[in-house]
Amino acid sequence: MEKLVVRGGKPLSGKVRVSGAKNAVLPIIASALLAEKGICHISGVPCLADVETLIDLLRFMGAEAALEEENLTVNAKTLTNTEAPYDYVSQMRASFLVMGPLLARYGHAKTFLPGGCKIGTRPIDLHLKGFVGLGAEIYRENGFVVAKVKDRLKGGKIYLDFPSVGATENIMMAAALADGITQIQNAAEEPEIVDLANFLNAMGARVTGAGTNVVVIEGQTSLKGAAHQVIPDRVEAGTYMVAAALTGGEIYIENVITEHLKPVIAKLEETGAKVQNGGSGVKVSGAENIAPVNIQTLPYPGFPTDMQPQITALLTRAKGTSMITETVFENRFMHIEELSRMGADIRVDGRVAVVKGVSELNGARVHATDLRGGAALILAGLAAKGETEINFIHHIDRGYEKLEDKFCRLGADIRRVSEG
Ligand code: UD1
Repeated sequence: MEKLVVRGGKPLSGKVRVSGAKNAVLPIIASALLAEKGICHISGVPCLADVETLIDLLRFMGAEAALEEENLTVNAKTLTNTEAPYDYVSQMRASFLVMGPLLARYGHAKTFLPGGCKIGTRPIDLHLKGFVGLGAEIYRENGFVVAKVKDRLKGGKIYLDFPSVGATENIMMAAALADGITQIQNAAEEPEIVDLANFLNAMGARVTGAGTNVVVIEGQTSLKGAAHQVIPDRVEAGTYMVAAALTGGEIYIENVITEHLKPVIAKLEETGAKVQNGGSGVKVSGAENIAPVNIQTLPYPGFPTDMQPQITALLTRAKGTSMITETVFENRFMHIEELSRMGADIRVDGRVAVVKGVSELNGARVHATDLRGGAALILAGLAAKGETEINFIHHIDRGYEKLEDKFCRLGADIRRVSEG
């Protein structure tokens, strides 16, 4: 077991480079399974536990995959297996994204019901609704979901009851090899959807409307390998922005698409932080006094739920009371109990958290309850007096590349300790 030990109280300053986006690279790696010929070259791949799990799953299926530095090559010409077993899928919900490509290419796919962060019940009904809309038959068998189609999938109109990111991606990938045209209505509009569409189009697919709420996919008979550079991680960037704001430091964050961070930047500015664009990055300077703000998480382009825990950590030190409403996941306040151990004053009522700013946080022994909740604890630890010990950090390693290294370069006192 490993833990992180953070000694807080120092303003962070310097330069940090953002890695490729975890949430963009995962569907892109899954979509490499669609290529009947040619090799996929994916660059800007972050070295993360989730990425390794998905690469291992592709290898288990018979694909050849090699990751060197930030460059991944995948050859999925011949697959020997269309089943994603428990060991891979229970570790990471995104492994369910292999279902669409496998179903489209081979007419059948079998996947263990997905795991991942316990931030809500996280059903897969919308993914399955999409597959059924494309003509698949679905059934459950001993904890697995099985999808089958007689010949090819057939394009159709699919309305998503909620603009689910994963469902939009899975349906896009399946529809890329379907017979005819598919229209996804009320589709997710996240930048990661656009990145996936760009990769699919480079492979020979015809996807239009990605980034709007109607995505149209004209199915092709086959797709080939292609090269692609993954977009920068907007959540990692946002986390370092909050680090500057919370510690009263000044950080230049490189490799950022500011357009993707509009709501985060707007809210940081409301708290008093200064955000300046420059080159391919942004400089964030913390204010002496953090102003309270109200936040509601929403699908893109609203405020991202993946930044809610980090901004909550920031608001624990605001001069006044903030209200945070989480509308995307029903159980995404688990980090609040941990922040309270550090002296934060937060009351949760259903989907609303009322955060009363306190004059200081104190180091404590806490545990990461999920990926972004864990990031919030690091941020709080960096601003706290004394030492914070964060346990269960495997959650954090799923989503932050070279975490201690990047924070240490900014002047943080943070170290990883192995126990037992
Ligand atoms: C993705 C991101 C995750 C982010 C989330 C929302 C990846 C790998 N993960 O997760 O970091 O927090 O988007 O921006 O990209 N839902 C259903 N039925 C479904 C699918 C989803 O009801 O079939 C619900 C979920 O329970 C949740 C909401 O839709 O309440 C949003 O989930 P979704 O957009 O699907 O998130 P993920 O794709 O799992």
